[in-house]
Amino acid sequence: MAGRIPQSFIDELIARADIVEIIGSRVPLKKAGREYKACCPFHDEKTASFWVSPDKQFYHCFGCGAHGTALGFLMNYEQLPFPEAVEELAGRLGMEVPHEGGGGPPRVQEELTELLGRVAGFYQENLAGSERARAYLRGRGLDAAIAERFRIGYASDAWNEVLRRFGATDESRRALSATGLIIERDTPRPGSEPWYDRFRDRVMFPIRDPRGRVLGFGGRVLGEGEPKYLNSPETALFHKGQELYGLHEIRLARTSLKRLLIVEGYMDVVRLHQAGIAYAVATLGTATTPEHLKRAFRLVSEVVFAFDGDRAGRAAAWRALQNALPEAREGRELRFLFLPEGEDPDSLVGREGSEAFEARLAGALPLSEYLAAHLREQADLAHADGRAKFVALARPLLARIPQGVYLELLLARIAQEVGLGADRLRELLHSDLAAAPEAPGSGDGEAAHSRNASSRRGAARGDGTGRRGLVTQAIQTLLHFPATAAAVSAAVLLALADIGEAELGGIATLRELLEALREQPRRTSSQLLEEWRERPEHRRLGELQAERILLDHSQAGSELLGILGRLIAQVGQERQARGYDELLSKVESGAASAEERFEFQSLNRRPAPRPG
Ligand code: UTP
Ligand code: MN
Repeated sequence: MAGRIPQSFIDELIARADIVEIIGSRVPLKKAGREYKACCPFHDEKTASFWVSPDKQFYHCFGCGAHGTALGFLMNYEQLPFPEAVEELAGRLGMEVPHEGGGGPPRVQEELTELLGRVAGFYQENLAGSERARAYLRGRGLDAAIAERFRIGYASDAWNEVLRRFGATDESRRALSATGLIIERDTPRPGSEPWYDRFRDRVMFPIRDPRGRVLGFGGRVLGEGEPKYLNSPETALFHKGQELYGLHEIRLARTSLKRLLIVEGYMDVVRLHQAGIAYAVATLGTATTPEHLKRAFRLVSEVVFAFDGDRAGRAAAWRALQNALPEAREGRELRFLFLPEGEDPDSLVGREGSEAFEARLAGALPLSEYLAAHLREQADLAHADGRAKFVALARPLLARIPQGVYLELLLARIAQEVGLGADRLRELLHSDLAAAPEAPGSGDGEAAHSRNASSRRGAARGDGTGRRGLVTQAIQTLLHFPATAAAVSAAVLLALADIGEAELGGIATLRELLEALREQPRRTSSQLLEEWRERPEHRRLGELQAERILLDHSQAGSELLGILGRLIAQVGQERQARGYDELLSKVESGAASAEERFEFQSLNRRPAPRPG
C-alpha cells in the first residue's frame, strides 16, 4: 500500500493550484468583480449561485452549500478518491507526490483497475463465444447493443481460465487475488494449483466507477442456482457501500441528467437503460448508504428510489429513508416508488414499457409523505398517547436531518399530520423526551412474556435488567432528583397511563411516584418514602435511593425524559410485535371473545368497553 501523503505537500499543492483554471476547464465561469460565477455543477439550477474566489482559492455554492478547495472540487466533480485527486492535481503542476513511510506510489490501484478491465474484455470475448450465455441474455430481453454498453460478459465453466490467462507470474497472481478474481485454496491439493477462479459459469456485470474503470464484478448464474449473484469481495478498489452500478453508463448515454433512479438490481439497471430510462443506478446488494446519496446528489437534485412491493422491499425502503435523512435538504428532492408485489423494475418495464414506468415514477411518494404515512401506521393519532408515540418515533428520525429550511417544512408537515401546530410539535420534540428511543432488540430480550402471577410480583419490584431496567432507571432518577417530575408533559403521562403492569413490571409504582411528586413538587424523596413505609415496594425504593448514581443535576431532567421516551417506544414496538393493536380494535369494536377481552385486560389497566 502507498504511504501517507504528507499534509505539508497537500498544503503546498493547494497553494500552487489555480482554482479558477481547474474549475474553469470543467465548468463555464463568468467573471463577476474579483470573483467568478457559474451555474452550480453539483445541483440543478437556472441562475448562477456557484462562486469561485481566486483570492481565497475556494469555491462555494449558495444554492446547495457545496464548497471547498481545488482538491475538493476534483474529488467531487470527477468522483476521485483523495489520493487520486492529489495525483491529478500534482500531475498538472508537474509535482511528484511524496509518500511517508515508504510503500509504492498509488499506481498500484491503477494497475489493478487496468487488470480488471482486461479481464472484463476477456469475459466479453467469452460471451461472444458462448451461445448458451447469449441465449440467456436474449431470454432476459437484452439486446446486443446494451450488453456492449454495459460490457456484459461471461465467465466460462472452468476453474482456472482467468488464472491461466492473467496469472502467469507470482506478481500477477498477487494482483488477481487482490482484486478478488482468484481465491487461494484452504487446503492445496497435490498436483493442482493453489488458486482457483472465483467466477465460473456466470454472466458477468463489470462494476465501473464514473470514469469507466472496472472495480469489480457481479456474476449471475444462468438460470437457477445459489447464490444467484456472486459479487467481488470488498477490496482496496471496491467498496459496496459507496459505488452505484450504472453511473458510468449514464455518462455514456450523454443525456442531460435531471434525476437518478436508484433500484436494487443489476438487471433492473440494464433493462431500464435499454428502455431509455438511462438515469437508473443500483446499489450493490447493500442498503443505500448516506455515502451513496452524497454521490447521487453531487450529480442531480432529484433522487427517486424504486422498491419491490413485497415485505423485503418495504423494509429496504424504510432503511433507505433512514439513511437518506442526513442528506435531505432544501433544493433536493427524495422520493419513493413502491412497485406492485412480485414486480421489479426489470419485469415492469418489460411488461408496461418505459412510458408507463415513468408515469409511475411521477407519482412516487415524497420523503415527507412516506415518513408521515409510515409513522401513522404505527401510532393511532386519534388518541393522545398515539400522538405522543408518533412524536417519540419521529424524534430520532428528525434528529438526523440537518437544520434548515427542509427540516422546518417537514416539521410543519408532520405537525399537520398529528394535528398540532408546528411550534407545539417543536416544543414536544425538544422538551418531552430528550433521547431517542432505542432500536428494538437492545436489552428487551425478556419481552412481554410473563403474565403469570409470580413474575408479575417480581416485576413489580422494578428490579432486573433489560426492559425493566428502564423503569428502574426512571424511578431512581426521580428518587434522586424529585423536581424532574415537573418536566414530564401531559402527553407522556398519558402514554404511561396506557401501559399495563403486566406489560411492564414496575410501571404502576413509577406512575404513582411521578404523580405524587408532581402533586407536591417540594417534597423530598425521603419524605415520600417515609409516607410509603408500609408498602411492599418500600424497601426496594429505599435501596434505589441509597445507591449512588452517575448523574448531575443539570442533566437529570433530560435524562428522565429520555428514559421515558425509550420506555414508551419499546412498549409500542412490543405491542406491534404482539399484534396488540389488532386486539385493541377488536375489543373496541366489541368483536373480541371473552378470552381476548381477558387477555386485553391483563395487558392493560384500561377497562375494556363492554360489547353493545
Ligand atoms: P434480486 O434478487 O432482486 O435480483 O437482487 P434481481 O436483480 O431481480 O435479479 P434477476 O432479475 O433475478 O436477475 C437484487 C440485487 O441484490 C444483489 C444483486 O446486486 C442483485 O442485483 N444480490 C441478490 C446479490 O448480491 N446476491 C444474491 O444472491 C442476490
Ligand atoms: Mn429481477
